[in-house]
Amino acid sequence: MNPGGRGLTARQQQVLDELGLVRWLPRSGQAPHAIPAGETGLPDGAAWTELAREAASCTGCPLHASRTQVVFGTGDRAARWMVIGEAPGADEDAQGEPFVGRAGRLLNEMLRSLGLTREQVYIANILKCRPPGNRDPQPDEVSACASLLARQLDLVRPGVILCVGRIAAQSLLATTAPLASLRGRVHALPGNRIPVVVTYHPAYLLRSPLQKRKAWEDLRLAQATLDGVAADQ
Ligand code: URA
Repeated sequence: MNPGGRGLTARQQQVLDELGLVRWLPRSGQAPHAIPAGETGLPDGAAWTELAREAASCTGCPLHASRTQVVFGTGDRAARWMVIGEAPGADEDAQGEPFVGRAGRLLNEMLRSLGLTREQVYIANILKCRPPGNRDPQPDEVSACASLLARQLDLVRPGVILCVGRIAAQSLLATTAPLASLRGRVHALPGNRIPVVVTYHPAYLLRSPLQKRKAWEDLRLAQATLDGVAADQ
């Protein structure tokens, strides 16, 4: 299949398949939701417990050997907002929680500008284990971790996903498009149509504070999208 006619490579399609995101559906499409690969039929509480247990003992890629601990995800498991980043850094690896370093503090400020605390959103990463030296995630690592994120998404069922940074956006949307072309519009997550808004990674914004204005536009787009989702319900 070639979701959305975007010319996916076999590798990108494989990642989509592993995420359980088997169909491209525009937001306005009429087709039913795809069934995520991770669906268990368990009540949500039991499904979270099982998922966290699986993640904690995961040896699905070589990163398990160098991690201090798995960085599973944090926040409100029934949140309307889900933030998806790239991978844990040194602080996150040490503390077991995503976005707790400098970039995390800026993410908290970005959320605060929306009237949100980090406890009110659900925050996770594409990878649950730290790549050594903070190198970019490898495709096999993204693919090994994909079903954990798919199952988190299926359990949270957010109204909007704020995807921060190029790597997270390209992995989630199975594209090689540059970040500049991905931000500023709303994507539909292939398969389940959850709206995705892409913005700059807070670590990049720390280095390039002049881009914060554009990030703020992205946040407002995400808020407007969520308001639209709520109005549709
Ligand atoms: N950067 C990320 O993408 N995720 C984290 O959890 C921390 C830094």
